[in-house]
Amino acid sequence: MIEIAPSILSADFARLAEAAHAAIRGGATLLHVDVMDGHFVPNITIGPPVVASLRKAVDVPLDCHLMIENCDEFIPAFADAGANWVTVHQEACVHLNRSLELIRARGMRPGVAINPATPVQTLGEVLGIVDLVLVMSVNPGFGGQRFIPGALEKARKLATMRDAKGLDFRIEMDGGIDTETIGPAARAGVEMFVAGSHVFGKGDPGRNVEALLKAAQEATLLRA
Ligand code: DX5
Ligand code: ZN
Repeated sequence: MIEIAPSILSADFARLAEAAHAAIRGGATLLHVDVMDGHFVPNITIGPPVVASLRKAVDVPLDCHLMIENCDEFIPAFADAGANWVTVHQEACVHLNRSLELIRARGMRPGVAINPATPVQTLGEVLGIVDLVLVMSVNPGFGGQRFIPGALEKARKLATMRDAKGLDFRIEMDGGIDTETIGPAARAGVEMFVAGSHVFGKGDPGRNVEALLKAAQEATLLRA
């Protein structure tokens, strides 16, 4: 099932609920929350208090993308704040297996993310314990960057590995997703699409989500 997860990073932080509601009206079924610590990535954003506020404002699952070091120290706070999906970076976790188990033990769905330079083969040992693999299609840290096409082959490889192992994790892509790039990504096997600037950058967020959904659905119909 194709789902759009608008990234609130590109929304007006002083009017988050309004932006989120507009995106949800257009068909967004998740909200993507980009958490940055100024260490793993060269930017600082938001954390559990904002997740807790959003939790009160919307009913859709909150998809929290942790671009942080020492994630084990913060995972409980995200659980308490009402996060549903928590994704940590392979590159940022020394004890990745432990971090993923901790996310599940706290009642959330674990995901693992990889940067553009990280091969999918590095995830072989954890694919069986995640619900989600997030393929970054930009280098994390900022919205509004250009899509890196090598991400498509990584999604295809992951889909093949999933089938070979009989697993059922979902494949998410994040960075540079717009109505042009979403089609090829959908055909490569991506089902969850993060989009920030294309949803909240200009125009009506609801209409922008609708256009993304339509482009992804048309591309996968062509595949069938
Ligand atoms: C980048 C973040 C993304 C970002 C995507 O580090 O993980 O979620 O907000 O923004 P766009 O859609 O503008 O590339
Ligand atoms: Zn993200």
